[in-house]
Amino acid sequence: MITTPFVDDATVDNDEAALSVSRRDVLKMAGAAGGALGLSALLAASPVAPLVEACGMAKDTILLPAPTTQPITPKDFTPLKDRVSGISWKQLSQHVGLYEGYVKKLNASNAALQAGKATDMRTLQHKHSYALNGALLHDWYFSNLGEDQPNMGTLMRRLVMRDFGSHEQYFADMTNVGKSMRGWVVTGLSLLDNRVYNYGLDAHDGGTPLWFHPLVVLDVYEHAYMIDFGTNKGDYLTVFGNAIRWDVVETRVKQALALRKALNA
Ligand SMILES: [Fe+2]
Repeated sequence: MITTPFVDDATVDNDEAALSVSRRDVLKMAGAAGGALGLSALLAASPVAPLVEACGMAKDTILLPAPTTQPITPKDFTPLKDRVSGISWKQLSQHVGLYEGYVKKLNASNAALQAGKATDMRTLQHKHSYALNGALLHDWYFSNLGEDQPNMGTLMRRLVMRDFGSHEQYFADMTNVGKSMRGWVVTGLSLLDNRVYNYGLDAHDGGTPLWFHPLVVLDVYEHAYMIDFGTNKGDYLTVFGNAIRWDVVETRVKQALALRKALNA
């Protein structure tokens, strides 16, 4: 049984004010989205700047950031040690090692693409998308794991209640998707219809939907839970549901709402 108490509505004076996001917020949150992975410049360069322009900002106010030329540095997740109830550091540390491997592979494929000398472009493209998504998905997974904020934030609560009816139904759907897939469950806000879905991915680059913003990322590969749970995937899903950092998720909700507003979707 996953128990995730909601925060009291009274803790937020004005929900509508919380939903209102300015263009400056778009840029600010875009910068924060890449985090220590070093992808903030890439994010600001590709999807966000055109959106800001589309919503009316003058072209000459937008400074194009310089392309990132340095290798991307893996985020340090050692602070997760002893901060996730039910998942051991032995389990997590080996998993973090896999994430660091994906960042290395991403740097290698980026270098190969920039060199422009691929002899097998198809293989290189597959390796690149697999490594890129592997690095990002693991970053988002570890980043939304911990005990810092056990209460679902107001905005996420409103989305869950609107699109799932209750947090129990939301977690039941997440569990069903998680048991059915081999790779990932990603709770995301669709920028097509503004609804929240639990998307299932069989691999980093398999069944990966586009045009949504990730809110909660759950790794359901066997390597994510075998050390602590053996083949008991259900118990792992329950532990994860009780170990989500809802403060991180709430920030992602604000990012998603900013993108939706900029898109005028
Ligand atoms: Fe993983």
